[in-house]
Parts: sequence; structure tokens; C-alpha cells
Amino acid sequence: MEDTTQKILYSAVQPSGNLTIGNYIGAIRNWVGLQHAFTCFYAIADMHAITVKQEPALLRRRTLELAALYIACGVDPEQCTLYVQSNVSAHAELAWVLNTITYVGEMERMTQFKDKAARHAENINMGLMDYPVLMAADILLYQAHLVPVGMDQRQHLEIARDIAIRFNNRYGETFRVPEGYILKEGAKITSLQDPLRKMSKSDENPNASVFLSDDRDTVMRKFKRAVTDSDNRIVASEDKPGVTNLLNIYAAFKGCTVAEAEKTFEGRGYGEFKLAVGETVADALAPVQAEQKRLLADKGYLAEVLKRGAEEAFRAARKTLSKVYRKVGFYRGE
Ligand code: TRP
Repeated sequence: MEDTTQKILYSAVQPSGNLTIGNYIGAIRNWVGLQHAFTCFYAIADMHAITVKQEPALLRRRTLELAALYIACGVDPEQCTLYVQSNVSAHAELAWVLNTITYVGEMERMTQFKDKAARHAENINMGLMDYPVLMAADILLYQAHLVPVGMDQRQHLEIARDIAIRFNNRYGETFRVPEGYILKEGAKITSLQDPLRKMSKSDENPNASVFLSDDRDTVMRKFKRAVTDSDNRIVASEDKPGVTNLLNIYAAFKGCTVAEAEKTFEGRGYGEFKLAVGETVADALAPVQAEQKRLLADKGYLAEVLKRGAEEAFRAARKTLSKVYRKVGFYRGE
């Protein structure tokens, strides 16, 4: 097998909102798996988070909670570089330079910008528009080979590639042009109340999403109320989105296939099925929550891990930034 451990993989997540079991299956678990295969940089993107309004104390708390959560889920700070974006000033510094080769028109056309501008019409700030450039800076600073991206971030990665190529053409070879790392498409986890829609951390219906922070009773209650259908067969199929979603969730948390899950529940009723799915999820979440709580009680340890992460990240980022400053003609003393 090809040795990929020298390849650099970059990913980041914003510390905004409560994470759902959909985020866990779709994102967090991947970070854990990838850290052994590649040289991974994992950031908590607090600078991206403030492009929409944040409560400062809450942002700070969520940053720490997210770091603790990732470690609790198995992200090992000895195996990867885990750090907070704003702790490494090179991100902002590189973003400034990249801004000068990015066109306003390109940013105005970005789908996510248009969506967010529509949703936050009272706060269309420059940062919101500049979001993709900061993201390009994140990736290019570390000379990343690979960026794992879901559908919603594809366009941002494309822009990062364009910016890298443009800079290299104008100033000479400086950045590695990153590739998307296509994740093995796990099953999409959908809303428990409207199984045709994605499970979202911002759903107004409190029973639609299961959060990683939900206690056992809450998890059980939400699964008990999950929408199914009237035909009592526990099989995955397109005309049974609710049952299919529950089977997907069960399989993902049990580590089995959907076919195996169907077999397990053959001939059983929906009530019993929903109970079993709830229990499986609650059993899986309990140790993660306990470990996250333990870590959050040990602020010294977390501070130490994140400080070390920021130092490691800075060492890598500094090299790229000095090169960029030289290339664009900034005076560096002799
Ligand atoms: N924009 C990404 C998201 O919301 C988070 C992010 C910030 C990111 N910088 C990144 C992801 C760099 C990959 C690479 O999901």
C-alpha cells in the first residue's frame, strides 16, 4: 500500500452551534480515521465563526468544548496537530495578501455567501464575503495535499485552488494546489421528524435532531417520537425514509451494515425498534460525554494541548508566510 503518512491533510470546523449525531457520523469520525493515514492539521475555525454574530463568552466556551469533544471522540493530539485558528496569526496575515489577488465578483458569486447574506441580511459584513479567502489561507499555509470536503464546501475548495494557481502564476511557485479528499459517502443522517430533510443543528423542532450533548432520557424520548410510517416493516427503502434513517443510524453506531441491522429487527415492531436504536445511540454517546466532561474539568491539560498545537501549526505556517512576503516584495530587513 502507498505510504501516505507524509501527505498533509487539512481540515477545520467552526465552533458554532451544538453538534448532532449527523455531524458525528459525517465529520468527527473521519478526523479520527484520517489521523493515522496522513499528517493532519485540524483547526477550530473561530475566525470563520465570527463572520456571523457570536456571543463572545459562548464562542470561547464552545471553542474549548469542541476541542474536548474531538479529543473525547478519539482525535489524538499526539497523532495530529489540533489547534485554534486565531492562535496562529499567519492565517489572517496570509488572507490579507490573498485578498489582493481575489476579485470581488468571484466572492459575490459564491453560493454560501449568497445564502448567508440572505439569511443575515442585517449583517452582510466584509468578513462574510471574505470567508472563502480566509479558508484558502488556512489550507495553503500548510501546503496541504488534501482537504476532506463534503458537498457544501466544494466550491470553497475550488476557489482555494484557483487562488493558489493564480498566486503561483503571478509570483512563481509558492503554494501546493490542494486536492479534495472525497470521503467515503456514509449514509446521510436525516431529521427524526422530517426524514427527507438533513438533520440540522439549527432545526426549530427540538425533536428533529439528536445532539451529542443529549442525555440518555432525551435521546430515548427523541427516538421514541421519531417519524416512521404505518406499515410496520423494518427495511430500508426509498418509500420508507423514516425507517431507513433509523436503520442507518443504528448501523453507523453499531458498526454493522444496514442489511445486518434489517436482519436484527426482522419481525419486530416499530416500538421495540426505536427503543433499540435509542439505546444504541445513548450507549455510544455516554463514554464520549463522560470523557469530554473529564477533559473540560482539566482546563490546564486542554490549554497545554492547544498551545502545543498552535506552536506546531505556527512552525509550519511561518515557512509559507515568509516565502509569500518575500515573493510579493515586502521588505524583510536586508
Ligand atoms: N468552512 C468550513 C465549514 O464550515 C470550515 C473550515 C474553515 C475549513 N477553514 C477550513 C474546512 C479549511 C476545510 C479547510 O465546514
